[in-house]
Amino acid sequence: MKTYTNVKDLGDLQTAVKEALEIKKNRYAYKHLGENKTLLMVFFNSSLRTRLSTQKAGMNLGMNTMVLDINQGAWKLETERGVIMDGDKSEHILEAIPVMGSYCDIIGVRAFAQFENKEDDYQEKILNQFIKYSGKPVFSMEAATGHPLQAFADLITIEEYKKTARPKVVMTWAPHPKALPQAVPNSFADFMNEADVDFVITHPEGYELDPKFVRGARVEYNQDKALEGADFVYAKNWAAYADPNYGKILSKDMSWTVTTQKMALTNNAYFMHCLPVRRNMIVSDDVIESPQSIVIPEAANREISAQTVLKRMLESL
Ligand code: CP
Repeated sequence: MKTYTNVKDLGDLQTAVKEALEIKKNRYAYKHLGENKTLLMVFFNSSLRTRLSTQKAGMNLGMNTMVLDINQGAWKLETERGVIMDGDKSEHILEAIPVMGSYCDIIGVRAFAQFENKEDDYQEKILNQFIKYSGKPVFSMEAATGHPLQAFADLITIEEYKKTARPKVVMTWAPHPKALPQAVPNSFADFMNEADVDFVITHPEGYELDPKFVRGARVEYNQDKALEGADFVYAKNWAAYADPNYGKILSKDMSWTVTTQKMALTNNAYFMHCLPVRRNMIVSDDVIESPQSIVIPEAANREISAQTVLKRMLESL
């Protein structure tokens, strides 16, 4: 595997989940693979889970791991070509990327959508420059339009907890005080559309996601109706995608918060969220603390999704 940016990079999804569950049974079985190999993780944005789980995954595989926080101690990077660099940006990304590539064997990149230019965000300008200029396998640790390590961990978790062969999975928008990118819901939709689940998306009007990710999924604007009979409730906020409101908050309607009353509409569903989560905005205390909340095992599976991807990348070096 040379890149990991979306579900297609995994090939057959069932095989990938099976491999992940095997890795989970013995996560140190492939320690030899990463001997004398270095993982570099580059963060343009904050992280708790991705940073720790991916570093742990690399260590499980015997890799040396390095972390670079671009905004803390590195030179400020210019990303546009042709700019006269007489401002506060000291280094161009076109030198920085191959230099980073020269110090490692695999690179992970976190670079969120900036909501300044939809085209730049949806062309994955930063991530694709790493793929083009680093000379090394590159994987997304959440880029502008996708968070495939998260979605892979989500699918592994659903596989572990499902009680029926084809569970109903409902992804619901929920309110949030800040404008958040569409990366997590895009990737979740991308994976659920490939998985053997009955997938439903619910959100207020105006929050339609990119059709490229929604594909044939059912979109239901009535949250209560969508939640009926759900086996899994996946809550997430995102800002508007459609023009002219790209990146804007259109609603903070608290009636979309996932509460005990909302969960009562479901088939005793499990509650999922990628974390970090704003309590009593996205989900009530009662729900996230209930036995049906699987947010902690979901986060723990981030180590397994990252390790599966890193293992495949090491095998292809
Ligand atoms: N879910 C997730 O990616 O968490 P972090 O932003 O803390 O890495």
